[in-house]
Amino acid sequence: MSTFNPEELDLEQLPMLGRGVWGSVLDLGDGTVLKLGKRSGGIGDGHEKFRHEAMVLDRLAQVTSPIGPLLPVVVEWDVLNQAIQFEGEPHTIWMRQTKLAGRLATIDQVLGMRGTERRALAASVAESLAGLYGAFERAGIAADLRSSGGVADFQLGDIRLEAMDRERLEKFRRIAALLDPADDHPIHGDFNISNILLDNGGKVVGVVDFAETRLGRLEEDLCSITSEIPALRQDYVERVEAASGRRVNRQALEIFEIGSDMISMILARYRFAEHSSAGRLEAEIDRRLGGV
Ligand SMILES: Nc1ncnc2c1ncn2[C@@H]1O[C@H](COP(=O)(O)OP(=O)(O)OP(=O)(O)O)[C@@H](O)[C@H]1O
Ligand SMILES: [Mg+2]
Repeated sequence: MSTFNPEELDLEQLPMLGRGVWGSVLDLGDGTVLKLGKRSGGIGDGHEKFRHEAMVLDRLAQVTSPIGPLLPVVVEWDVLNQAIQFEGEPHTIWMRQTKLAGRLATIDQVLGMRGTERRALAASVAESLAGLYGAFERAGIAADLRSSGGVADFQLGDIRLEAMDRERLEKFRRIAALLDPADDHPIHGDFNISNILLDNGGKVVGVVDFAETRLGRLEEDLCSITSEIPALRQDYVERVEAASGRRVNRQALEIFEIGSDMISMILARYRFAEHSSAGRLEAEIDRRLGGV
C-alpha cells in the first residue's frame, strides 16, 4: 500500500519542472517527479491522458536497453475523489515517475546553435526516435493502441470554428485526403523539443510525455519537430531514415507540418486567446496551403 499522499505536501514550494495544458510537473527531490493533472485542459479528457501514459510507460518498462534508461518509470498514480487546488486550479489526478537527467533546449537555443552542433542534435534525436520505435515493437504495444485516424481527422472537441477557419480546415482536409496511405505503427505522438531531455553535450538522455502515444505514421512524429524548427528538417529526416530503416514521405511530412500548424493555430485562437501567435500561424498555413 502506498503512503504517498500529494495532499500532505506543500506543493507550491516544490520546484516546477514544467507546466502544460493538462497540469504541472514538480520535482519531489527524491529522484521522482510528481505530475499533477486536471480533467479539462486542451482537447479531450485529462484523466484518460494520464491513464494512457501510465499504460504505455508500464509496457515500455518491460523493455530495457538501449532505450530503457531514457524513459521514465511510473512509480504510482491515482485519481482523487477530492480535487487538490494548485495555482488556483482543481487537479484530480497525479502520477509519480522516476526523474530523468538532462535539461530542455528551447527552440531559440536550437536556432542559435552552430551547424555542427545542430547536426549532432538532429542525429541524436533521430537515434532516440528510432530506438523508441524498436522498443514499441519489442513491447508488442501496437495491440494496446488506438489509431490516430490520420492527419485530417484531429478532434476539435467543443471548439466551434469561425467561417474562415472552417474553410481553411476543409481545404487542408481535401489536400490531406490525397495522401498515399501508409502502414500505421506505434508513434510517440508528441515528439517535440519540449519532451526531449539533453545532456550538456546536446545528446538525448530522456524522452517524456507518452500521453499521445498511438498508431500513426512516421511523418506524424517527425512533424512535431520539423514544424517548429524547420532548420533541423533536412538532417533530422535523413538521420531518421538511416537509424530506423524507414522511408520518410516528404510530401506527407509537409502536409503533417501544415496540420500541426493548424492545430496550434486553432488552440491559440480558440482556447488560449493568443491572437498574435494565431495570426502568425494563420499566415504560414495560408502560404503553405497555396503552395501544395
Ligand atoms: N520524468 C521526468 N523527469 C524529468 N523531467 C520531467 C519528467 N517528466 C516531465 N518532466 C518535465 O516536465 C515537463 C512537462 O512534462 P510532460 O511533457 O510530461 O507534461 P506536459 O507537457 O504538461 O503534458 P502535455 O504535453 O500532455 O500537456 C517536461 O517538458 C520536462 O521538462
Ligand atoms: Mg510535454
